[in-house]
Amino acid sequence: MEVLEAIKTRRSIRKYKTDPVDDKTLQTVLDAARLAPSWANTQCWRFIVVQDGKIKNKLANTLNETNPAMDAIRNAPLVIAACAELGKSGCYDGVPATDKGDWFMFDVALAMQNLVLAAHSLGLATVYVGRADAKEAAKILEVPEGYCFVAMTPLGYPDEIRNPRPRKELSEIVFYDKYGVK
Ligand SMILES: Cc1cc2nc3c(=O)[nH]c(=O)nc-3n(C[C@H](O)[C@H](O)[C@H](O)COP(=O)(O)O)c2cc1C
Repeated sequence: MEVLEAIKTRRSIRKYKTDPVDDKTLQTVLDAARLAPSWANTQCWRFIVVQDGKIKNKLANTLNETNPAMDAIRNAPLVIAACAELGKSGCYDGVPATDKGDWFMFDVALAMQNLVLAAHSLGLATVYVGRADAKEAAKILEVPEGYCFVAMTPLGYPDEIRNPRPRKELSEIVFYDKYGVK
């Protein structure tokens, strides 16, 4: 699938078939994440492929009950948890180089978006899950000190068709030369 086509047709999917994802397809999707750009090529991201139903269940319980992605985390054949090594992205010798602090959220998001688009191009579905108890998720996944849990996505074949969510018009979000100038 062409990149623009993938960007245009990707949707957040919260219902998954139980069909497994074969290993070659999984590796292709993970490789797309690996190839993302990062601050000074620091590649702070780490990915945990969760296959174990008990661990998926525990991760689902880190979501608030009102989170519509809870069942997807529980039932999809795989969950990909994105973690980050801290003090690398945006930092030199562990000291932030900008007013933004640690840029791990930025770099992990780039890798995750590569992963999500690659998954979609292969007929797979995803939904970012950020509204979770990240400390609890890190504990469940035994993420070591100096690293954190950032977000996760179920990965599997879609069992629903979603209409596109609305987006702001370009005229609302793009300015020329100076902020606010259209
Ligand atoms: C950083 C981030 C965190 C998100 N967290 C959740 C979440 O916890 N639960 C959920 O159901 N959807 C979550 N989403 C999905 C958004 O709700 C979804 O991307 C948005 O409504 C646009 O819909 P679309 O992805 O189908 O275009 C998250 C998306 C992003 C980018």
